[in-house]
Amino acid sequence: MNILFVCLGNICRSPIAEAIFKHQIEKLGLNDQFFADSCGTANYHVGHNPDYRTIKNALKNGVEVHHKGRQIAHADLETFDLILAMDNHNLNSILKLSGAEKYFDKIRLMRSYDPISVGDVPDPYYGSEQDFQEVFEILDRSIKNLIQNQLIKS
Ligand code: 4NP
Repeated sequence: MNILFVCLGNICRSPIAEAIFKHQIEKLGLNDQFFADSCGTANYHVGHNPDYRTIKNALKNGVEVHHKGRQIAHADLETFDLILAMDNHNLNSILKLSGAEKYFDKIRLMRSYDPISVGDVPDPYYGSEQDFQEVFEILDRSIKNLIQNQLIKS
């Protein structure tokens, strides 16, 4: 199964989500069953490493982040089985890609899997270290819930 995490710049939220997903899947020994990637709806950071605050905060939580920024492409709608937008703005941008209606069922909000609260994963770009930690915690519990209750439910 192929899963794509999508935010605006692809240097903060979605690379963290991708790294958390890979970390949790590896711990479960399920690497061979899933492929995860991330991208941005904008092209501001194509080819860039994740924001240094992203890398630092994830490491503090025991997760390594390795990614090069890229922008979403139409082909991603076909390639990926589940496309998770970090916020409503990202979701609308994805749905505006030509022909996206056909893929409506697999394009969802990340926090539709948050067991505590729904809404947007807040953009930490102009925020503090605490904001990056909040993003990490939202993503960690949402992805745990996604894996346990949707992806590997027997
Ligand atoms: P992200 O955060 O969408 O979580 O990667 C942002 C990164 C960069 C910008 C905005 C949000 N930017 O305006 O450059």
